[in-house]
Amino acid sequence: MQNTMLQTQVDSVPNGVAKPRTFHIMTFGCQMNLADSSTLSSTLTTRGYKRVENEADADLIILNTCAIREKAEQRVYGRLGDLYRYKKHRPSLKVAVVGCMAQRLGDDLIKRVPHVDYVLGTDRLFELPDVIEGVEGTSSVMTAFGHENMDLIAPIKESPWSGFVTISRGCDNYCTYCIVPYVRGKEREHSAQYIVDAVKKMVDEGVVEVTLLGQNVNSYKYDDVDFPRLLQRVAGETGIRRIRYMTSHPKDLSKRLVDLMADEPRIMPHIHLPLQSGSNRVLEVMGRIYSREHYLKIVDYIHKRLPYVVLSTDLIVGYPTETEEEFQQTLDVVRSVQFDFAFMFRYSSRPGTIAAKMPDDVPEDAKLERLNRLIELQQGISYDRNQREIGRVAWGVIEGRSRRDANLWRARTEGSKTVLFSSETAQPGEVVPVCVSAADAFTLHGNIERVN
Ligand code: SAH
Ligand code: SF4
Ligand code: F3S
Repeated sequence: MQNTMLQTQVDSVPNGVAKPRTFHIMTFGCQMNLADSSTLSSTLTTRGYKRVENEADADLIILNTCAIREKAEQRVYGRLGDLYRYKKHRPSLKVAVVGCMAQRLGDDLIKRVPHVDYVLGTDRLFELPDVIEGVEGTSSVMTAFGHENMDLIAPIKESPWSGFVTISRGCDNYCTYCIVPYVRGKEREHSAQYIVDAVKKMVDEGVVEVTLLGQNVNSYKYDDVDFPRLLQRVAGETGIRRIRYMTSHPKDLSKRLVDLMADEPRIMPHIHLPLQSGSNRVLEVMGRIYSREHYLKIVDYIHKRLPYVVLSTDLIVGYPTETEEEFQQTLDVVRSVQFDFAFMFRYSSRPGTIAAKMPDDVPEDAKLERLNRLIELQQGISYDRNQREIGRVAWGVIEGRSRRDANLWRARTEGSKTVLFSSETAQPGEVVPVCVSAADAFTLHGNIERVN
């Protein structure tokens, strides 16, 4: 089958340059990008290209990029610098920059980095094989929105046992600091039927855990199907064992969703609920449309209905005009909610956003100092929360060997925590009961329990 595909492959593009046959893809940013990279890989593979793990074996190197903070873009520039040296030795190597940073910079990216061959934005990256082959109507820089036929882009598995299904693309929330609505465009949903069919297909291929992805899954609405109804359909119609979702927005998360999670064991008890700030004034200028009181009310309800829930969050320190007292309010909320884990960031001004028009007036050293205090507080809380898991039997999906100690296996618990254990017989993809015996702030340790 593979041979037939290679034989029918065109060997050169119209301008006579040899067509790349192998590609290597590097993914930056969030799970949405991971999902896009998987889909792009599958598109390229169907067109006769071969994915290689080693970049030295690749004729085409693809960088699927992120623009969320300046640092994310600097990382991409760093990799592009390496590729410049690489390309000097192998001039036939093609470099494609796709995704959010490509969308943001367009033509400017090639002006700044001339050894980049293709720049494809978030709505056009799946056209990469057409662009390489010089199909009429394509060009090496494409960033226009509105070109994506969503239902033609089939989701694929992330690994033999887990998969991502993007339920909506884009975002309409325009939080004032955030570049995502500008680089991902307006929110568009897949139909519930499409999502159910995609999950069913994955189940047939052996997937046990699926993650439904959207920038704000709680605003999902297609015909009369809202997010809780969609989850119900996926749980009831596909045979999938475990369902996760990301990301929730506190302004739209409903009690109905929490009630459904309490009743439906296939939906994993993990809620990622970005708080961003504990100060009502900062939340307001961020455009988040909820107050700290509203947030705390939802958390209370979640804890009441889902006693074993794992709660995680995102926090930003040093938003323009944030005072020390306002930062203290973030610490207060973090103390009172007791998140299991948190992603914590220094504010980074993104050109074109509403906040970028405000002076970035919290000095970098103050931002760093606030971030360090926040991390220290959260680490203590994560440690305490993980201690509470000791003695519990967690059902984890085995993902592979531990990254630090190859003698140990690594599984992901219902609450999305990592648990390490030793076993002679473990197989990736198996769902196993692990009795938690120890924990630090980042990881659980346990022993596999064999049930007969
Ligand atoms: N759609 C999701 C996540 C979007 S990006 C949501 O609304 O929660 C992931 C996280 O990056 C955000 O939650 C926020 O905490 C952080 N982030 C976004 N823009 C940022 C910026 N300009 N500076 C620092 N952190 C930022
Ligand atoms: Fe960005 Fe806000 Fe949309 Fe999340 S909800 S992607 S933070 S604009
Ligand atoms: Fe994700 Fe970064 Fe784009 S966080 S949506 S890859 S800007």
